[in-house]
Amino acid sequence: MAFRKAFQVACGIAGTAAVVVAAAATTQRRGEGRVEAAAVSWSPSSPLEQRTAAVWDSNWDKREPISLMKPNKKNKDDTEDFTAQLENYKVKATRHIFLIRHSQYNLSASTDKERSLTSLGREQAELTGQRLASLGLNYDVLIHSSMTRAKETATIISKYLPGLEMMSCDLLREGAPIEPVPPVSHWKPEAMYHEDGARIEAAFRRYIHRADLKQENDSYEIIVCHANVIRYFVCRALQFPPEGWLRMCLNNGSITWLTIRPNGRVALRTLGDTGFMPPDKLSR
Ligand SMILES: *[C@@H]1O[C@H](CO)[C@@H](O)[C@H](O)[C@H]1NC(C)=O
Ligand SMILES: *[C@@H]1O[C@H](CO)[C@@H](O)[C@H](O)[C@H]1NC(C)=O
Ligand SMILES: *[C@@H]1O[C@H](CO)[C@@H](O)[C@H](O)[C@H]1NC(C)=O
Repeated sequence: MAFRKAFQVACGIAGTAAVVVAAAATTQRRGEGRVEAAAVSWSPSSPLEQRTAAVWDSNWDKREPISLMKPNKKNKDDTEDFTAQLENYKVKATRHIFLIRHSQYNLSASTDKERSLTSLGREQAELTGQRLASLGLNYDVLIHSSMTRAKETATIISKYLPGLEMMSCDLLREGAPIEPVPPVSHWKPEAMYHEDGARIEAAFRRYIHRADLKQENDSYEIIVCHANVIRYFVCRALQFPPEGWLRMCLNNGSITWLTIRPNGRVALRTLGDTGFMPPDKLSR
């Protein structure tokens, strides 16, 4: 509950900030005729910004060839043999991961079981299912959080993807991944971040990584879960500070598409896409 309010607050703030920045840019343009590129492009200035700018850990998922190689094969003295060996540990396939936020549910109910989808929520799930099917991709699996709203969303989506294997996972349940920065006024006990944070990080490590060595073909996997979980995954996958997760907003039934290449590079192709839903089906 508190998080839902918190993210609405966060979205409000973000919206205002964007307007202020746009207004400032317009004023500047009018006043000076021309805006110098240097004045508008960002460069790290403070020591903190310099420390965090443009760093990419290519072994973030511990699946770089050197990490996959057995210790007794790591004979670096024989350079030729080592290089040849390394080739055997290169991942071959790309993974496409579709993170779906569950659709609208009954907020008046108090238990997870009773918190089932509203009729609008069911319509949203139908639209998301149709959208995923219309992309014409050969999906490999549909994984969903074990919470009622995620399970129901996944079940409706699965109607449009006949024969697709479905799996339920407790790690993907909603929670408080990490204390957000900037802070929110809705206080959460530290123990909650401590507990949920470790679980959601475990979910990240289980699901978000480059393909396994034995994977031959590119894969397309659907994960139906929750806004906090998805936002945390996106920050972690892009190596952005995870504390910033609450600065993003995701619509109900939206699609967030991550691509992970064999070399571990990650691309966010869409974030919270609901462009396929008619405006009257979006929940506000
Ligand atoms: C999604 O639905 C929930 C209720 O299930 C609602 O609180 C929330 O505001 C909705 N979010 C968006 C972005 O529409
Ligand atoms: C939502 O849940 C409340 C409490 O369980 C229930 O009284 C109400 O009928 C539910 N609303 C819908 C639309 O299912
Ligand atoms: C990979 O794709 C090829 C070509 O579509 C297919 O023949 C092969 O069976 C696939 N391999 C696996 C493990 O699915």
